[in-house]
Amino acid sequence: MTTSTGTDWAAWQESWDRQQEWYMPDREERFRIMLDMVEALVGTAPRVLDLACGTGSITARLLRRFPDATSTGVDLDPALLAIAQGTFAGDDRVSLVTADLKDPDWPAALPYDSYDAVVTATALHWLHSEPLAALYGQVAGLVRDGGVFMNADHMIDDTTPRINAAERAQRHARMDQAKRDGALDWTDWWQLAAQDPVLAEPTARRFEIYGEHADGDVPSAAWHARTLLAQGFSEARPVWCSPSDTLLLALK
Ligand SMILES: C[S@@+](CC[C@H](N)C(=O)[O-])C[C@H]1O[C@@H](n2cnc3c(N)ncnc32)[C@H](O)[C@@H]1O
Repeated sequence: MTTSTGTDWAAWQESWDRQQEWYMPDREERFRIMLDMVEALVGTAPRVLDLACGTGSITARLLRRFPDATSTGVDLDPALLAIAQGTFAGDDRVSLVTADLKDPDWPAALPYDSYDAVVTATALHWLHSEPLAALYGQVAGLVRDGGVFMNADHMIDDTTPRINAAERAQRHARMDQAKRDGALDWTDWWQLAAQDPVLAEPTARRFEIYGEHADGDVPSAAWHARTLLAQGFSEARPVWCSPSDTLLLALK
């Protein structure tokens, strides 16, 4: 997606969104509710931390809806961060930080030590439960009193195995059909990035960092809520869910 006038960052954003929607057709819906809850709890000019921001999907929607908001995006993937950097170049509301959320010192890389809202989507299942609980402790330290944390992700309730299996079979059958109709999956998308003259080099680096995908856990929404309460939040519960995913909100 390089044109004669340079890389078309909007086209990369579009194709990232379509690829992610192949897994989550209701992705925009969860972002909409996430921003509704930002507005409800911390208003329309919040300082936000977009955790594991990728290309900055949440930040883009945040700034479109709340032009007075500011955002720090943090991620480790050099290719996705390159797309974010291209997208937000010149926008002084956005800072982008390279950091590994498993590094105990990652908050030191941030430009601020306190945020009104910390938000994340489709990312924390890349971590195992123990480092994720530790990360939640660090997040609790970054959210101001009265501020919020929200995590939209795949969350599995293992007390309902037959429901889970039926839901998964249906979801995957729909994904298979969409793929036959031409949808790009994760592997296809990264193959495209590897062929792009600007993204090829950071894409090679991201495969050195992660391999195909990191290996994490998918605990239940109840586990997330319990762990957030134990790490210093005062209230926590789902504010949206689909048959497979949950948007969990914790209030400091
Ligand atoms: C599927 S993407 C989601 C990106 C974005 N939140 C979105 O919804 O489009 C998962 C993101 O988590 C990031 N990530 C996973 N593990 C990470 C870690 N240990 N440190 C920083 N970022 C991490 C990946 O680099 C990737 O950008």
